Amino acid sequence: MTNQKIAVVPGSFDPITYGHLDIIERACKIFDKVYVSVLRNSSKKGLFSPEERIDLISGVTKHLDKVEVIQFDGLLIDFCQQVGADAIIRGLRAVSDFEYEMQLTSMNRKLDSHIETMYIMTNNNYSFISSSIVKEVAKYGGKIEDIVPPLIEDALKEKFKEQ
Ligand code: PNS
Repeated sequence: MTNQKIAVVPGSFDPITYGHLDIIERACKIFDKVYVSVLRNSSKKGLFSPEERIDLISGVTKHLDKVEVIQFDGLLIDFCQQVGADAIIRGLRAVSDFEYEMQLTSMNRKLDSHIETMYIMTNNNYSFISSSIVKEVAKYGGKIEDIVPPLIEDALKEKFKEQ
């Protein structure tokens, strides 16, 4: 038996941004172990493969000893049960996130009432960022250096060169 407090930071991370990274870093200050779980969002079409996303997240979180990055093909709550998670951590950017997040939290609570979902307010500098906006700007050659780490910027440039 251990008293370790375990968190899961789930998302589609297509790709990871400074906004996600901020939430992961702050989760590391509170929890002993933080799983970053790459899951499927059935309403989104992916640009990066799950393997590419794992590599990119691992690359930008290598300074965080508590983090383990794992891809999971299934329900978030099943992943949480497998790793013995105490909490699911999500970032909240603005009121517009609220309705979707409430649905997610309520459904996950219905599936397993022992696992709490907790929200961290996104740093103001990143509250306008989304992976979709980053992809849109990168696609047309716009400046994204303030919103994604250099590794991600390079990966996006490479991806759009291929297309
Ligand atoms: O970064 P996103 O796209 O907002 O993350 C959404 C995600 C991937 C966490 C959500 O779609 C998810 O949990 N997918 C896995 C399947 C699942 O458990 N769906 C929610 C049931 S309420």
